[in-house]
Amino acid sequence: MHGTVEISGSKNAALPIMAAALLTDEPCVIRRVPDLSDTRFMVKILQSLGASASLEHGTLRVHAKKIKGYADYDLVRKMRGSICIAGPLLGRLRKARISLPGGCIIGARPINLHLKGFAALGAKIKIEGGYVDARARKIVGSSMFLGGRAGPTVLGTANIMMAAALGEGMTVIESAACEPEVVDLANFLIAMGAQISGAGSPTITITGVKKLHGAEHEVIPDRIETATFAIAAAATNGEITIKGARAEHLRAVLDKLQEANVIVERRGTDLRVKRRGKLKPADITTLPYSGFPTDVQAQMMSLLTLAPGISIITERIFESRFMHVSELARLGADIEIEGPSAIVKGGKPLSGAPVMASDLRASAALVIAGLAATGSTQVNRIYHLDRGYENMDLKLHKLGARIQRVQET
Ligand code: EPZ
Repeated sequence: MHGTVEISGSKNAALPIMAAALLTDEPCVIRRVPDLSDTRFMVKILQSLGASASLEHGTLRVHAKKIKGYADYDLVRKMRGSICIAGPLLGRLRKARISLPGGCIIGARPINLHLKGFAALGAKIKIEGGYVDARARKIVGSSMFLGGRAGPTVLGTANIMMAAALGEGMTVIESAACEPEVVDLANFLIAMGAQISGAGSPTITITGVKKLHGAEHEVIPDRIETATFAIAAAATNGEITIKGARAEHLRAVLDKLQEANVIVERRGTDLRVKRRGKLKPADITTLPYSGFPTDVQAQMMSLLTLAPGISIITERIFESRFMHVSELARLGADIEIEGPSAIVKGGKPLSGAPVMASDLRASAALVIAGLAATGSTQVNRIYHLDRGYENMDLKLHKLGARIQRVQET
């Protein structure tokens, strides 16, 4: 692949920021919101709560003048990320009743840490009829430790920041998630008048205020999309420029790409990506930020199937995030799973075949493997891909990829 690709706004920053607009009865304008099935879903959820919301050409206009504290069961149940409406509803209305998100294919994904945080803020929690019901006479700031089995929780940290923003007194979150998406949310909340310090570090302090006002914000670029395109370029031995990226959000990924013999040069907010000859194996362990992101594990596995030698990929965040392994094996990859690790014996050429996407990042990994394989590959169930990548096929096509979206028969 050759040429230039423009990175879209971050899905995982946009979703909680869209929910945060529920914290004020004044209008908010959020720019660079990617056009994805997940963000369109969140617009529907905001509307079902009573807010006016519209997403056009990447700009979201929300006005949550008057809202209710419970969201449509079927809507919320379908998108895990919608759990992040709970914090704003509890913060503003002192009550939130939403359907339990339930597990997904990559793991059980409980919300015990979210509920622990809400309870620490004074909320009474009830789980009944598939709903979680949180109510509080008042939100009272308090200190809490929010670390769990796999370390901090990203949306848990987001939820507590949003619930505490309109609370009484000071809240301190220890073992907070440090992801750039958490920082972007904090910046939007601060623009609305919230008092927050320490976002991006493991200790976040929120001093409650009486009221938040409307604000404007531009969402950060999507670091996972950036990593996905860098890996796709390396897998096809191409040379591309990625525009509008934030390299500082991707240090662990760029470090591992370098180890695999891929050069990534920074030129302002552009990244120039190309291989330095043959790919080399690398060992990867997924960790909370600033470690290697779990959302890039599958894509990196596709690349390492092409690198002669042994690469060991260990998934420490989600307990079943290797669904792509059996599909990569259909393309001829040699991968063995040993507990939380996948042992990749790389270097064997891949050959095209029909494969099935199981989740968002696995589908991106299969597209990358298909681009690197001889012959043609058909990736099915790409609705997974459309949840998190804006026009991925068109962007790849513009870089010279022979890729086409076809109706499934
Ligand atoms: C966010 O999910 C992202 N989603 C995920 O991206 C990402 O994989 C994940 O963070 C980790 O980086 C969005 O931002 C919308 P967590 P989140 O709570 O917040 C356990 C993608 O591909 N845990 O940080 O739901 C949990 O089971 C998606 O774009 C508890 O045990 O993830 C997991 O093992 C997939 N109890 C770990 O913590 C809790 O209450 C990290 O989960 C909460 C989480």
